[in-house]
Amino acid sequence: MSDEMTAPPIAKPVPPVKETLVRGAASTSMKHESAMLHVTGRANYIDDLPEPKGMLHVVPGLSTKAHARIVSMDLEAVRAAPGVVRVLTAADIPGDNQISPVHADDEPLLATDHVWFWGQILFAVVATSRQAARRAVRLAKVEYEEKPAVLNVAEARANGSDLVWRPLVMQRGEAEKGLETSPRRLSGRITIGGQEHFYLESQSALAQPGEAGEMRIWSSTQHPSETQHLVANVLGRPHHLVTTEVRRMGGAFGGKETQANAWACLAAVAAELTGQAAKVRLDRDDDMMATGKRHDFVIDYDVGFTDDGDIRAVDMVLAARCGWAADLSGPVVDRALFHADNAYFYPDVRFRSEALRTNTQSNTAYRGFGGPQGIVAAERVIEEIAFATGLDPVQVRLRNVYGTGTRNITPYHMTVEDSITADILTKLTDRCDYRARKAEIRVFNSTSRHIRRGIAMTPVKFGISFTATHYNQAGALVHVYTDGSVQVNHGGTEMGQGLHTKMVQIAMREFSLTEDRVRITATTTGKVPNTSATAASSGADLNGMAVLDAIRRIKTRMTAFAAEKWNVPENEIHFLPDGVRVGADLMTFQQLAWQAYFARVSLSANGFYKTPKISWDAKTGRGRPFYYFAYGAACAEVSVDLLTGENTIDRVDILHDAGQSLNPAIDIGQIEGGFVQGAGWLTTEELVWDQAGRLRTHAPSTYKIPACSDRPRIFNVQLLENAPNQEATIFRSKAVGEPPFVHGVAVLQAISDALASLDDYRTCPRLDAPATPETVLKTAMRLRGELPPEGP
Ligand code: MTE
Ligand code: MOS
Repeated sequence: MSDEMTAPPIAKPVPPVKETLVRGAASTSMKHESAMLHVTGRANYIDDLPEPKGMLHVVPGLSTKAHARIVSMDLEAVRAAPGVVRVLTAADIPGDNQISPVHADDEPLLATDHVWFWGQILFAVVATSRQAARRAVRLAKVEYEEKPAVLNVAEARANGSDLVWRPLVMQRGEAEKGLETSPRRLSGRITIGGQEHFYLESQSALAQPGEAGEMRIWSSTQHPSETQHLVANVLGRPHHLVTTEVRRMGGAFGGKETQANAWACLAAVAAELTGQAAKVRLDRDDDMMATGKRHDFVIDYDVGFTDDGDIRAVDMVLAARCGWAADLSGPVVDRALFHADNAYFYPDVRFRSEALRTNTQSNTAYRGFGGPQGIVAAERVIEEIAFATGLDPVQVRLRNVYGTGTRNITPYHMTVEDSITADILTKLTDRCDYRARKAEIRVFNSTSRHIRRGIAMTPVKFGISFTATHYNQAGALVHVYTDGSVQVNHGGTEMGQGLHTKMVQIAMREFSLTEDRVRITATTTGKVPNTSATAASSGADLNGMAVLDAIRRIKTRMTAFAAEKWNVPENEIHFLPDGVRVGADLMTFQQLAWQAYFARVSLSANGFYKTPKISWDAKTGRGRPFYYFAYGAACAEVSVDLLTGENTIDRVDILHDAGQSLNPAIDIGQIEGGFVQGAGWLTTEELVWDQAGRLRTHAPSTYKIPACSDRPRIFNVQLLENAPNQEATIFRSKAVGEPPFVHGVAVLQAISDALASLDDYRTCPRLDAPATPETVLKTAMRLRGELPPEGP
């Protein structure tokens, strides 16, 4: 067989071919690589995987006190229950009972002698069926000695709670002096609620023990490497014995960046101790009770400005409810500070953070990672100035956006090299007819008793890169097989955002192959090691470059081989949609792959990438933490019903900068989804804890995410045209996962604008988030003088 005679023949000479992109290649639209599987229900999530023989089910037992000493834990009835194979407690953990992702050592996998929040994992039941495990869990008898619980920012401050992370101070110029010398000055407070991730696939993991201490984990995780490391830790094993695999998640939104780990660890411990495969798949209520959410914030601001609406100085204190353990709270709170300027230049500025420990779920990453909270505060400041000066908020925005010269330095001393906010705001103002509609709404409101309408336009400037510099690296592994089909592996994970699709498109573009010739595989730590979480919107930026690097290495080898074999200069070898051109000859990619293989050329390569230019020093509060910024603006129009407090979103126009988009269809989907999720956060989604620290909103019956009927009646989303990234990112694209979430802020401000009509636009309504019907009605009563103003 291995006879050169069997090699496919070289095709006949052909005339030159025009170089074009293959249909669906990177920078053009292509449907999601799993679209058909998604819509036909054939896409496998963890709970859909074939179950190994003898597989056991693991269900956690959760604490029912917010802060207590565990006096005793009687699990006899649990152990004796039908179907129960084993009950796991802290004492059963073979390695470290510690899963803090940031090495804070404050996160035991299973509680030892204390519980720190209502919902903490006390023990876990391993049983032959999920039902049996669920029934057995309820038989536990736990005796607690209750301690005072600190539940929110106010209580944490009053009790002098400790911080889970060092306070960050970011400053430039002299904020206090700037405030004192400003012609005008005001201060206020905004309270911003948290948010449940509500991924459709709850936290899930399947563990299967191997023959010599190996453990294979299938996990719904954004961070397979961290899951691998923590599983190894709790088992007391080296990393090389643990392999984590994830094909896709049914949504994650940051909620599976670190908080998938506990469940994978529990499954692994169960598998280790029983010798059987074991699966965890959280019930929705357990998931909501046990896992952390978006951080809620209390932000105090003090701002100095002029009668013309020019900002002179800003001082802000940003305090967050972090929950019982550090988790990612530090970097999340830092990112809130990084975005408390949004798109505006503050001549004198100081931001300070307070990351407060509380006896609640450990809050974690959530789309925007603290950035949206900072931006909400920045936009409140703009709104305050607009009401104080009588200017239109868009005018105030345009006066203060980053510009050039000395007006382009951020509070962290990074230069904004490409501020395009003014341009985007101006374009969007024209395209959506903002001024005329605003005038029309004012007329409408002057005669409308129960329905008030409002309109607002807010920009976003979002920093792209992990602020932990070492995270900004990625790897890939690409194989070309002898039939010319290609397999792409990389360290990023797919959570619905279309990352795998974009990686396939990059291979299609580089090799000039059609979609059916390129296959993406599940992400696994066995193929690409030491990866970063797929987070900070940088999945495509990082992994795309690593995939490109791997592909170019293979192409370089194939090109060198062809040049030598057919005696053609390397620059006359091109990978084109019709095939590979070698001088005047054209051959199929398959023919070249086969020939290269036959000549013993390696057709597999690793790729690697690290983001250039970035650095950040938290001690000095200076650096260039972001490689670049993604921009955009949204205009929202709403109607508020003053009898019920409910709102409808009547129209939304978004202009968003995705650079030279890798896939316009997918990016528009990210913008639409991000906006809706952001609007939900600021309007209907409310987390309520009772006095005992028990989360009362732990199911869709009490926690309201946006439904289809809540989408804007008119919804226009456009990508900013002719906006390639100034930096050399993958095909000049920009990250798009998180920035559009911020567009929801326009809805909050539009509701505020509608309410402002109640006292003829004289006072800033100071509408807190979420603007639920209760909050809206309370704010309306304050504006009508029926309730006293609520001050800090
Ligand atoms: N889109 C979908 N459909 N599902 C998700 O879970 N997560 C968001 C965003 N878009 C998410 C999503 C978050 S929090 C991030 S950080 C990015 O996707 C991560 O993917 P990327 O870096 O590939 O954009
Ligand atoms: Mo996204 S919050 O960075 O996972």
